[in-house]
Amino acid sequence: MKKIGFKKEFNKKFFPGFLVGAALLGMVSCHPKVKVKAAVQPTKLNPQQALQAAIKKGEHLVAVSGCEDCHTPWKIGPKGIPMPDMSRQLSGAPAAARPPKFKVPPGYMVANILTHAYTGPWGTSFPANLTPDKKTGIGNWSFQEFANVIRTGKYQAEWSGKGTGRPLMPPMPWQDYAQYSTQDLHDIYDYLMSLKPVSNKVPPYVPPHH
Ligand code: HEC
Repeated sequence: MKKIGFKKEFNKKFFPGFLVGAALLGMVSCHPKVKVKAAVQPTKLNPQQALQAAIKKGEHLVAVSGCEDCHTPWKIGPKGIPMPDMSRQLSGAPAAARPPKFKVPPGYMVANILTHAYTGPWGTSFPANLTPDKKTGIGNWSFQEFANVIRTGKYQAEWSGKGTGRPLMPPMPWQDYAQYSTQDLHDIYDYLMSLKPVSNKVPPYVPPHH
């Protein structure tokens, strides 16, 4: 009698706890297995699908890195508020862009909100045409050349002769983008190469007047 009573008491007190413990143990021991199984499951993409996936990732990186803010010309939108002109997406400062006619006070940067001509102590810089146009964009750049520009901050527009070695001017934040992994840069490159080529010869950089 005493024995049964003890068993009953034990079951009442400890059995639910035992069940929870067993369940937790089960979860813990199964969980890694589930993960491993998912990780080793091969995701077989054919080259076309792999390129599409890279382009998608590159599109996201370009969107969150603000490349559009400087490399896509803007137009005046509804209510007079400027907005990116997506028909000229990432085609750089329009060929007609010019430095301002007034003197920029020392320490200031003046940005033309429509053409993105940037004037400061470095002179005037014009964001490059990043579309795959072969004569005015990056259409005949290899991935390695693209990565070198971003990693070393050395300008190399095709029409100025590749790899002129002059430093990239502000406000191109190449020091930030130089930290992208090679894979990230490749995805960005693949995305840029998938864009509609836009023929637009960006004006050459204008050094400061002394
Ligand atoms: C704040 C403005 C700004 C942002 C943001 C920006 N750029 Fe630029 N970029 C410029 C300017 C201005 C130049 C031209 C600099 C010069 O002439 O020295 C430039 C030049 C470049 C060049 C060099 C072209 C050549 O011929 O060497 C590349 C490549 C480039 N940008 C890619 C990008 C990419 C990719 C992004 C986003 C990940 C980006 N830029 C974001 C302003 C910007």
